[in-house]
Parts: sequence; structure tokens; C-alpha cells
Amino acid sequence: MREALEQLQRNAEAELNAAGSQEELLALRVKYLGRKGSLTQVLRQLGNVPVDERRLLGQFANEIKEALSAKIDGALQAVASQDRGNQLLVERIDVTLPGRRFGLGGLHPITQVAREICDIFSGLGFEIAEGPEVEFDYYNFEALNIPKDHPARDMQDTFYIGGNVLLRTHTSPVQIRVMEKQKPPVRIVSPGKVYRPDSDVSHTPMFHQVEGLLVDRGITFGDLKGVLTYFVGQLFGRDVALRFRPSFFPFTEPSAEVDIRCVMCRGGGCRVCGQSGWLEILGSGMVDPEVFKNVGYDPEAVTGFAFGLGVERIAMLKYGISDIRMFFENDMRFLEQF
Ligand code: PHE
Repeated sequence: MREALEQLQRNAEAELNAAGSQEELLALRVKYLGRKGSLTQVLRQLGNVPVDERRLLGQFANEIKEALSAKIDGALQAVASQDRGNQLLVERIDVTLPGRRFGLGGLHPITQVAREICDIFSGLGFEIAEGPEVEFDYYNFEALNIPKDHPARDMQDTFYIGGNVLLRTHTSPVQIRVMEKQKPPVRIVSPGKVYRPDSDVSHTPMFHQVEGLLVDRGITFGDLKGVLTYFVGQLFGRDVALRFRPSFFPFTEPSAEVDIRCVMCRGGGCRVCGQSGWLEILGSGMVDPEVFKNVGYDPEAVTGFAFGLGVERIAMLKYGISDIRMFFENDMRFLEQF
């Protein structure tokens, strides 16, 4: 038996010396030391050996086992570090080169412009309020004095989630939600996403608005004009002329749209302003008494004004961008410029 063990050791060492790869070494470990390996088999037969020889033989077998195991481990490590060495040679890593930087992200231009707009109103004491993009018919239409079958709904036909739930078509429902919760005075601006089934160079099915609402005792159309004139001056510069043009919204009376002198042609007439020299930038008006009744405000006690503007449109004018879809194509060459 001692001889069998010695033979086994010699064979193992010969094979070990010939083994060059990790796979070969792992196979050797299984062959000799594995559960069905040859050394293991020999050790199992120790039971048949006379008791007085058993101790010495057992010790010898264990020594062989340990030595073999250590050698295989050593060889495995040598192979691994040689592989690493070869890899370094092939890759020729230049440790003196500077590391690769992670690019720092930035805010999307629409976010930037929306914040800029809100900041101007914050400076006047307006607070930021937000509302859900998935909205009830009641808040988006009904409470804003747009009953079912009203033709104004055609202008804003929308995406229905089902039943009386829809994607909001404007940020005006936030007016209702805020007034339901809060007694006058109210002074809020509300930025957010809105949805309409339009798609062309100046319309995307999702876009952004900023809503404004101010309610208090004795608010007049003069306040509306003053606040919006100040706002346009802050955003586009005080030398940009603006005009208030009569308009209609079911939730304001009277209503006005605000135009600014075309920033492209400065009023001479061009493609962007459709030769008119003016660009529409927002809708506004005095809050309709019906709306106050819907939220439990007394229209005899308070008055107010509201406005809504499109953020993409303002960003396009500010930066001279001719296609609204560029904002949402996620082309880094475009976005990095802001
Ligand atoms: N909600 C209107 C729109 O989306 C804009 C608006 C807001 C008009 C507030 C008047 C007052 O077109």
C-alpha cells in the first residue's frame, strides 16, 4: 500500500509539472483529490489495513494529500498572475494618463425655462403649486365652466384614461384644486405637463405650461396688466413691446391674449410671426364668477386674474428654435447647448 501511495505521488507530480493552464490544474485536483479521486480511494481502503500499520500509512497519505493540494494551489496562483501580466502587456495600460471623466448632467432646457418663469413670479410673492397630470373631467373642464358638449372642448379634445378620468389638457385645473383647499388671498404659479392630440413643428402631444392665479379683495384688470407687463419685461427685456388682445376662455371674463413684438423680425413681419409682427405667448383674464361659485368663493367679495403660458413656445422664442420636437428627441448635441 505504501508503494501504491508513492507511485500515485510520483504520477501526480509528473502531471502537475506538465500542466500549464488553469483548466488542466483544476482537472488534476478533481482527478487526485476529488470525492472520487485516486488518493481519496486509497485513503478509503485504510480500513482493510492491519491496525498497527494503519496509523503510519494514514499519516503518510495525508501528507501526500496536503502537499499535492498546496502545489496545485500554488500553480493555480502562478497561472493567474501570469495571465494578468500577459494582459497588461497586451493592453499596454498607460498609468500616467488622466482618468475618464463622468459627464455632469444638466437641466433640460424646458425645465430651465419653466424655473426661470416661476422665479420671476416668486419674486412677486407667488407660491408654487402642483397638480396631477391624470385628472378628473370635473377639474379639467366642468369646474372651469366648460360643461359637457361645450364647443370649447373641441379645441382641447383629449386623451381619456376611461370614464371621467383623462390626461389634463391645461394646467388650469390646479386653480380649482388650490381654491378648494385654501381661502383667499391666493397667489400661485403652477408648472407642469399637459396633453393634447396635436403633432407638428409647433405642437407635441405632451408639452408644458405654467399657470398663474391671483385672488384677493379688489383685484382689477389693471393688476393683471401690471403683473404680466412686468413678467414679459423680466423674461424678454423691457424694450420688447406687448399688447393685450381681446379673447375668450370659458373660465375668465373678460379674457385677453398677450402678444409680444416678434423677437425674430422685431415687428417687420416674417415666417415665424406669420407676417403679423406679433407673437402670442399667453392666455389670461379675470376669473369668471362661475368659477368662484364652483369652489365656494363669494364673487361679490373677491376678484382675481389667471393666466396660462406655454413653456416650449417661450423657450423657442428665447433661443430661436424653429422645431418644437427637438426638445424631446434627446439628441445630446442639441441638449448640451443649454
Ligand atoms: N388654460 C388656457 C389654455 O390652456 C390658458 C389660460 C389660463 C387662459 C388661465 C386664461 C386663464 O389655453
